[in-house]
Amino acid sequence: MTGFRVMKKSDLGFFMQLMDMVGWGMTPGDYDRILRFSPEGCFIASQDGRDLGMVATVNYGDISWIGNLVVLPETRGKGIGADLMKHAMDYLVSTGAKAIRLDGVPLAVPLYRRLGFKDEYWSLRYTGVAQKHAEPTSRPMQRKDLDKVAELDLKVFKAPRRDILEYFYGLYSELCYTAWSGDQLIGFIMAKKGKDNVKIGPWIAEPGYGAEAVQLLYSVMNQRVGEKLWVGVPEANKASVDILERNGFAALPSSLRMCYGDSSVVEKVESVYGLGGPDKG
Ligand SMILES: CC(C)(COP(=O)(O)OP(=O)(O)OC[C@H]1O[C@@H](n2cnc3c(N)ncnc32)[C@H](O)[C@@H]1OP(=O)(O)O)[C@@H](O)C(=O)NCCC(=O)NCCS
Repeated sequence: MTGFRVMKKSDLGFFMQLMDMVGWGMTPGDYDRILRFSPEGCFIASQDGRDLGMVATVNYGDISWIGNLVVLPETRGKGIGADLMKHAMDYLVSTGAKAIRLDGVPLAVPLYRRLGFKDEYWSLRYTGVAQKHAEPTSRPMQRKDLDKVAELDLKVFKAPRRDILEYFYGLYSELCYTAWSGDQLIGFIMAKKGKDNVKIGPWIAEPGYGAEAVQLLYSVMNQRVGEKLWVGVPEANKASVDILERNGFAALPSSLRMCYGDSSVVEKVESVYGLGGPDKG
């Protein structure tokens, strides 16, 4: 019989074992963040005292996310992944979430469809190397910009996640930039250090400000010249795909953005140049 328990700080070893196995480049810092923003919403499945798999959630109110679903290879195909998903979904519904979203790898899509998730769009992944660029026009983000950053993010992402944005700013302020038209914020980018790369996102720009979006990307590149970059992009944002391809980024296997429940509130994908990340939007 499968049992479930809430993940705790002491489960870091199991988390890293699973993440290193699937190669998603997650770090102990990611674990801290996941538990900090969802202390009751990440679960481990076990049988006879042996931990077999995990799932994480993050809840922004009406809209919530599931990520980091992994089961040990030797126990796959026996329904543990589905049970973990149901457990996470029940938890999120019990907290009042109306929509649950995820980015599913193609192999896992049939499982999510069986659980009632509906396809939304392909969520593309790109990798590239940071090149040096002439002084970009974007400005380093300052703490006092965070109100406007959170306001623009809400307009595009459609769920309030100021706390998480502020958290990333606190850790990686040197990788956060803003773009302005007069005193109006029209875009921003945030990036964070992954295991062996720099993960970009959220990277957001108002419609019509593609040139500023490029400058935001170049600002991050200048901070990390020669390092590997990773970014996830909604397929519909052709402007972002064009920027990435012009800058030598290569496509990695895509994921499918899926939604369970009320799918009526959708992010403004034309403004999303880079997604926040598969486990947090
Ligand atoms: C996805 C995963 C957690 C499923 O765990 P599980 O205990 O085998 O799940 P279940 O037994 O409930 O369901 C099996 C379903 O998993 C999916 N699946 C099978 N192999 C998979 C793989 N290598 N990767 C991802 N999903 C897979 C299929 O939809 C399968 O259904 P099917 O047998 O009808 O094709 C497990 O395969 C895994 O850890 N994969 C690697 C990590 C991963 O890709 N996670 C999902 C990210 S979106």
